[in-house]
Amino acid sequence: MPTPPEQPAPEQPATGPQASPLPVFPPGFRWGTAASAFQTEGAARTAGKGPSGWDDFAARGRIKDGADAARGTGFHDRYREDVALLAGLGADAFRFSVSWPRVVPGGTGPVNPAGLAFYDRLVDELLARGVAPAPTLYHWDTPLELDRAGGWLARDTAFRFADYTAAVADRLADRVPMWITINEPAEVTLLGYALGEHAPGHRLLFDALPAAHHQLLAHGLAVGALRAAGAREIGIACSHSPVRTAGGGPADDAAAGLYDTLTNRMFADPVLTGRYPDDDLAALLPGPVADDLAVISTPVDWYGVNYYHPMTVAAPGAGDADGFGGIELPEDIPFALRRTPSADRTDFGWPVVPDGLHELLTGLRARYGDRLPPLWITENGCSCAPLDDQARIAFLDAHLRALHRAVADGVDVRGYFTWSLTDNIEWVEGASQRFGLVHVDYATLERTPRASYAWYRDTIAAQRAHH
Ligand code: NOJ
Repeated sequence: MPTPPEQPAPEQPATGPQASPLPVFPPGFRWGTAASAFQTEGAARTAGKGPSGWDDFAARGRIKDGADAARGTGFHDRYREDVALLAGLGADAFRFSVSWPRVVPGGTGPVNPAGLAFYDRLVDELLARGVAPAPTLYHWDTPLELDRAGGWLARDTAFRFADYTAAVADRLADRVPMWITINEPAEVTLLGYALGEHAPGHRLLFDALPAAHHQLLAHGLAVGALRAAGAREIGIACSHSPVRTAGGGPADDAAAGLYDTLTNRMFADPVLTGRYPDDDLAALLPGPVADDLAVISTPVDWYGVNYYHPMTVAAPGAGDADGFGGIELPEDIPFALRRTPSADRTDFGWPVVPDGLHELLTGLRARYGDRLPPLWITENGCSCAPLDDQARIAFLDAHLRALHRAVADGVDVRGYFTWSLTDNIEWVEGASQRFGLVHVDYATLERTPRASYAWYRDTIAAQRAHH
């Protein structure tokens, strides 16, 4: 159920970490950073890679300030430098993504040997530096040919994804200790298919729901393909926001409930319980879904949570809009986003609400009970440009304290990936939002660690020293 509107938490510092040391996480808790292929790799049309829907979106000028997404941060050619930065952090694990069109350039058909060889080298480099590779198989870069054939609106895309997954797993499962199938299917559905803000740019509103179902089916099929190849520790990374009602009455409460269903439960329920949360919504899905739900709920080893901030939701009408980086919702959508109260905001304008992470995790535990597998925080971080990024340090410090409280309250969380190691292409925001512990100069691709890099390194070392 949506919770009442939040009051700004007075105990959160405005800047700088709290003076007391971070509480100690359980032995074996893992520390890492996360990134994705389209946002970092560059080399968009080299080494046999095919175009993705996002490459096409960028070429059509949809990325702010013309940021050069085809060059990215140059990770494809500079991965050794970035792995050295990870080793310098003392990171246990690195969450990166495999680019589907780098491995299967046409989305279907032959595999690109140079593409697989790149991930082979990356995995070996990580292992040689003592960092566990944690690949995500889909972080939004659908092969363009599949997008042109309907993308996730087409059921066939799920089966092409399973074929690609099998090819990657055959090559890497002997060395990869942890896998993520799909990243944030809710954002892909909402921003890519419902609102047209992300690739492939469809504005279908509620008719976008088949894209959700087919991504979930792809996830379930991929779990099967990974298991068949002997892969271990398989999970999914879903974005979750605690949803708060704007509190103006039953209409706001109902709108917040619908938003919670559409963005949180629509994705977690089928994976964790084998059911969709709402029969009316299920009726908008393609065909009978019972057999698909059995595939979608194939057991995972863990469940990944990407947390950035809560959402405050009202019935449609006038008010201060917030959320989705300022994207306006069409008038015929039955909810409106409102400003979430918070003492601080990130460069993106997102509210800084560390308690939301505790609320989210304890809420998931309450909602799913014993059906909830161990959790990982697969993303958490903030955009903050200065090299002396005290606001990022305060953000991470406060979120880790909130995470620790959730662990102390009995939520089984195994590890934390901060987003991100380096600045990267923040989708349509391009280079304008900087999520990195390490600054990237996009003219030279030079990397410069921010203050938060040393802070995270020291935090990991201090945690390790306790065990
Ligand atoms: C979630 C997405 O997975 C990631 O690609 C993005 O950069 C971060 N959120 C920050 O917006």
